[in-house]
Order: sequence, then structure tokens, then C-alpha cells
Amino acid sequence: MASSLSHSEALSLGALSLACALVLANTLSDGGEGNPVVASLAFSLLAFSSTYALVRWLGNAFMRRGFKGRDLCKLKQTEMPEMMGAVSAMVYLFTLIFFIPWPFYKDIVAATSGGGNRDVMQELEQLASYLSAVLSLQCIVLLGIGDDLFDIRWRHKVLIPAIGSFPMLIVYFVDFGVTQMVVPTPLRPYLGDLFDLGWLYYAYMALLSIFSANSINILAGINGIEVAQSLVIALLIVLNDLLYLLFTPYPHPATDSHLFSLYLLLPFIGVSVALLKHNWYPAKVFVGDTYCYFAGMVFAVDGILGHFSKTLILLLLPQAFNFVYSAPQLFKLVPCPRHRLPHFNARSGLLECSRVEFKKPLARPIAASLKLLHRLRMLDVETNEQGEIASSSNFTIINLWLVWFGPMREDRLAMGLLAFQTAVGLCGLLIRHRLALLVFTQDNNDNW
Ligand code: UD1
Ligand code: MG
Repeated sequence: MASSLSHSEALSLGALSLACALVLANTLSDGGEGNPVVASLAFSLLAFSSTYALVRWLGNAFMRRGFKGRDLCKLKQTEMPEMMGAVSAMVYLFTLIFFIPWPFYKDIVAATSGGGNRDVMQELEQLASYLSAVLSLQCIVLLGIGDDLFDIRWRHKVLIPAIGSFPMLIVYFVDFGVTQMVVPTPLRPYLGDLFDLGWLYYAYMALLSIFSANSINILAGINGIEVAQSLVIALLIVLNDLLYLLFTPYPHPATDSHLFSLYLLLPFIGVSVALLKHNWYPAKVFVGDTYCYFAGMVFAVDGILGHFSKTLILLLLPQAFNFVYSAPQLFKLVPCPRHRLPHFNARSGLLECSRVEFKKPLARPIAASLKLLHRLRMLDVETNEQGEIASSSNFTIINLWLVWFGPMREDRLAMGLLAFQTAVGLCGLLIRHRLALLVFTQDNNDNW
């Protein structure tokens, strides 16, 4: 990979950064009352240019240190820098830190000069959750880099995001301690309006982090898919935030949470687009597990602290399906090879579903289930002369897509899956905004 920027790239990135710096200076010039949303946008564009340049400049240094991987879905399996998600994550964390004065400066000043009124205290609680988000993301990036360096075993690494969520959970405990859930209307006669989940609420938040981070890591293996699916999810959450911010009368309690969510997501989109530019087909760099955990954790933190974790689950439905579909391999009911990414057919240049061979005969109920899945076109099973199952396609939706639509080029496969993710996400938002009234009496604009 070229390790420097071309003339035109350097010029455009330089001009963009300069423009952002001017916008930021301008937001400060009106007496510290700068608009945080404008500042967040400017910071996100700055984060984009920094990540774009740093990925290019650092790629070869990563390779020299041995952080490299082979592109398995190509004829010539060239080596390229691995773990470049660490670069985006670092730029992201610094952006969040530099951004703090914009939304919080006047509140810190008011609080320290003895203001102490209720609004200010509320804003300071927001600052506390913002900082806990930064701490949790720092933890997950450290742990993710550890995983990329040492290739931790699957059964250990599933727990990594739970450890990463500790800072957020502890600050949540000290600061809010709200562990109640709004009960759907049909259940209210039995449970009351609010149901206190107690410590289970903390377990729920830790589980959501585990799910969100790992589900992105296992929907992986073709160029661009890790970053692009994260971008689709981030853009859908931004759309959800905008629906609140534009259509709810101010001041509304949900407004602050959705602004908070924007502040976390806009820079994430900035660094991810820059990374995707290098990771899209044909990839020049790999993103590593660091990026997958980091992205999943951004969503978990955003959904939990922004109080819309159920909406988040709706947006992660394709990942959830992939997780459940993968379960037989993840839990070793059937063998799970180290890599389940599709198989590259050198003759056609297209990707086909990859297969797992069964050396030993499968247990009767498992064999029957696989045959049933085959009949439902949810798996591709091959049997030998004795009628025993000899092999099946690997249990991921990437392979299932190839079973359904036949062999195709890597970028078309990625585009198909992304279109599917977008369609499901938009339906999720529609359900959330239109049909939620059937199960929750409260008005659509409340937090969910
Ligand atoms: C997860 C998946 C594994 C999948 C792998 C691909 C599970 C349980 N694990 O493992 O099945 O094969 O991700 O990322 O579902 N690579 C490519 N092209 C790409 C992206 C990655 O060839 O577009 C290869 C490269 O050799 C790269 C390696 O995958 O070095 C990275 O794999 P890694 O992220 O370490 O795998 P896992 O997350 O453990
Ligand atoms: Mg991975």
C-alpha cells in the first residue's frame, strides 16, 4: 500500500481540516455559547481527515511490526495491514475528549462558581455519563488490541465487552441507579406501570454490550462488511435521533439524550467513513477485532446512556439473526472452523458459500435438524451414498446469502447484505415509531 497521500488527497484533506478549524474558532467567538451540534459536525470532519491520513501513513509501520493479514477471498492472497481499526478508535477517543468544552463548558463554570441549580446539576450528570462512555470505550479498545495481538480464544473473548462495560455500569450505579422498566400496557394489570429489574438491569446492560460487540465481529470476513454494517447502524440511529430532535417541542427530556447520542455518533461516522475508504473492496487494510468491539461498544453505550436500548436491538436484528443462526457452530453442536468466510473460486473469480466437512457422523437429532434446515432452504447440506450428512454450508448469513442467490463477486455480496441491513433497520424504525403505541400507551416521543 502506498504510504503517503497523493497531491489531490493532501490538498482536499488540508482544505477540509482548515475549514473545520475555522468553523470551530467561529463557534467559540460568540462568547463561549458556540453551538455544540455545529462543533460536533466540524470535529467529525476533522476526525475523518485525520483518520484517512493516519491509516495511510501508519499502514506500513503496522506491517513491519507484524500486524498483517492475508486477504483470503482473492486469487493473490496479498498481505496487508491488520488492526487499523485501532487508529480510528484512537482518533475517535481524542475527538470526544477535545469536544467536551462545547456542550459542557458553561455548566462546569456555573457549577464551580456556586450555581448549583437543578438544570446545571442535570447537565453535570450528562457530563458524568459522557465521561463514563469515554472510559468504557477506552477499555474496550485496549482489550480489543489485546485480542488482535494475542488472538484470544473464542470462549474467552466473548466476555471482553462485558469487562469493557464496567466503567459505564459503575458510573450508572453511582449517578442514576434507575433500574425500572416501563411495562407494556397489556401486562400492566399484573406488573404495574413500572417494573424494577434491580441488579438484573445491570446484567441486561452487560449482556447488551457482549451481544452488540460480538455480533459485529462474527458478521465479518468480506471486504468492508464490518465497517459498512456499523455505518448503516450508526446512520439509522442518527435518523432516529433526528426524528426526535426535529419533531419534539423543546424542552423535552428526550432531547438531551438524543443530542448526547449525536455527539457520540457523528465522530464515529467520521472515523468509520475514512476507514471504509481503505477497507472497501478491494481492501488495502483490515480493521481487526479492535474495530468490531469498538463499534459494537459505541452502539451499546449510546443506546444505554441515551435510553433507547430497545430501539437499538431493533436496528441490530440482522446481527441478532446471524448470532442465533451461528449458535450451533459457536456452541460446538457442529464443528466450527477457524474461518467461516466464503470460499473464493479461482476459476470463476466469484465467492461461493464455504463448507464444513463432518468427519464423524452427526448425532441423530442434529442430522435431522440440518436436513430440515436444508429443506427450508436455510442451509446447504450434502449427503454421502449412505444418506449421512457429509458437509454443510457454514452457519453465517453471509454464506446463506450465497446459498440463496448463488455465487457472486465480493463487493456485490457486501452490497446485498448492506441493502438488507438498511431495509430491516428502516422497518425497525417504522415499527418503533408507528406500532409502539399498540404496546405502550405513552406518546411516541418518549424515550424507549
Ligand atoms: C471472525 C469469524 C470467522 C471469520 C473471521 C473473518 C466467527 C466465530 N468467527 O473470527 O468465522 O472468518 O471473523 O474476519 O464467526 N479476512 C479476509 N477478508 C476480509 C476480512 C478478514 O480475508 O475482508 C481475514 C484476514 O485473513 C484477516 C482475518 O480474516 O487477517 C481476520 O480474522 P479475525 O478478525 O481475527 O477473526 P475472528 O474475529 O476471530
Ligand atoms: Mg474479527
